[in-house]
Amino acid sequence: MPDPNSTASLRWWQRGAIYQIYPRSFRDADGDGIGDLRGVLAGLDHLADLGVAALWLSPVYPSPMADFGYDISDYCDVAPVFGDLADLDALIAAAHARDIRVVLDWVPNHTSDQHPWFRDPGRRDRWYVWTDRPNNWRAQFRRGGPAWARGATTGRFYLHSFLPQQPDLNWDEPAVEAAMHDVLRFWLARGVDGFRMDVLYRIAKDPALQDNEPGRAHDQDWETMQERLARIRGVLEEFDEDRLAVGELHLPTQADVARYVNWPAGLHMAHNFHVLELPWSASVFHATLTELYALLAPGAWAAWCLNNHDYSRLATRHGAHAVRPAAMLLATLRGTPFLFQGEELGLTDAPIPPDRVVDVDGRDPERAPLPWQPPTTAGPGAGFTTGTPWLPIAPDAEARNVATQRDDPRSVLALYRALLALRRETPDLQAGAIAFAAPDEGDPDVLVYRRGRRHLVALNFSPEPRPVSWPSDARTVLCTHLDRDAAHAPPPVLRGGEGVIARVS
Ligand code: NOJ
Repeated sequence: MPDPNSTASLRWWQRGAIYQIYPRSFRDADGDGIGDLRGVLAGLDHLADLGVAALWLSPVYPSPMADFGYDISDYCDVAPVFGDLADLDALIAAAHARDIRVVLDWVPNHTSDQHPWFRDPGRRDRWYVWTDRPNNWRAQFRRGGPAWARGATTGRFYLHSFLPQQPDLNWDEPAVEAAMHDVLRFWLARGVDGFRMDVLYRIAKDPALQDNEPGRAHDQDWETMQERLARIRGVLEEFDEDRLAVGELHLPTQADVARYVNWPAGLHMAHNFHVLELPWSASVFHATLTELYALLAPGAWAAWCLNNHDYSRLATRHGAHAVRPAAMLLATLRGTPFLFQGEELGLTDAPIPPDRVVDVDGRDPERAPLPWQPPTTAGPGAGFTTGTPWLPIAPDAEARNVATQRDDPRSVLALYRALLALRRETPDLQAGAIAFAAPDEGDPDVLVYRRGRRHLVALNFSPEPRPVSWPSDARTVLCTHLDRDAAHAPPPVLRGGEGVIARVS
């Protein structure tokens, strides 16, 4: 019988955390106010200190930037604003030298309307999705509207699930599938460790283009999805078994999300936005987390993210009292933690004055630059840039910046570092089973669970003190405020927003 708590059979992406870099806002090396690949290289030590296993780079490819890089005009190059291919090669090598893997964003559903495939009359008709009679499909951004736009020359309509500048590729055309597989091979051969797959569930649509109906979407998650994904996995495995496929899935239920990781040649992990979108309530988290774990087939693995570049930051969404227990939750759930840059500082959204709004979908606040130093000493670019930052720096940058928090033993950054170090050295936290206490067993604001044989976690979601009961042999390992003595009995009352990891004998 294999030991269920053994980490021996875990892959790299199951052992450690993955850190999302939004390249425009991570670090600017050339002073133009926009982050770039040399900036990422210069910031790698921060990631090594934090102790993550991998970085995921949001798109750095040539793009007209209508959707800030998710509208790609060349899948196999780097946009000049970010650097060039040699910079990306150097970044991959430097990350690997620090034992940090590199995951790229792969955007298979749509290109830019400036992509040569869309501009080429010989390809445009077959490689994209066209109709004479638009159906009821809608574009996804808040402004929404019909998902069909009239082509410039033919008078027919092409599909765009996002902006009109992002035409959907026709995955029912074998040449499209082959070309997108070749994009994967191009990067895998350059040493990339895997891909975050943008809106993956949208590459399978009803080829008859029938209207969406209540309870049945025809514009996504079609029955061709499973075989298409299996062929994508096949491409990854042409290289080795260590290349990662993590998919972005916005699907109606957690059962839908679980399907993609339960398929034998499905995703290794899926971003599950049902959890990100929950209200900050212990009982609601309990219900949603237990549901997801129950849906996973044996061997299937979860991914957890509480922030990304499309959502208001957790510190703003749920408030300051949620920051530390959220960090502990992320690091101690069974599954892989994903952090979004700035989350490790407890960063809030930056308010964006109307004349500085640049995103089509209201996502500038969470995309504000990462502050590296206090603005009072480093100047208005907060160490992110020596120039004028492309978006305003968050107002809390004076306290929430890398340099200040690195020197503070009780900062949010110190907490993330301690949590990730504990996870790295504790097989229970990597491989151990998870078992939640029933909600009626304790205070409804406290989420309590056991990991593996010896670890217990209690998280107070409330800003007020809450009681918690521990077994008599429990001893504190780590608390969110980094001020309790380890090896003593854990506290019978948790402070507002406090979490504790304890060990039993
Ligand atoms: C999901 C990405 O996370 C988002 O930023 C982007 O706008 C859409 N996909 C379209 O690519």
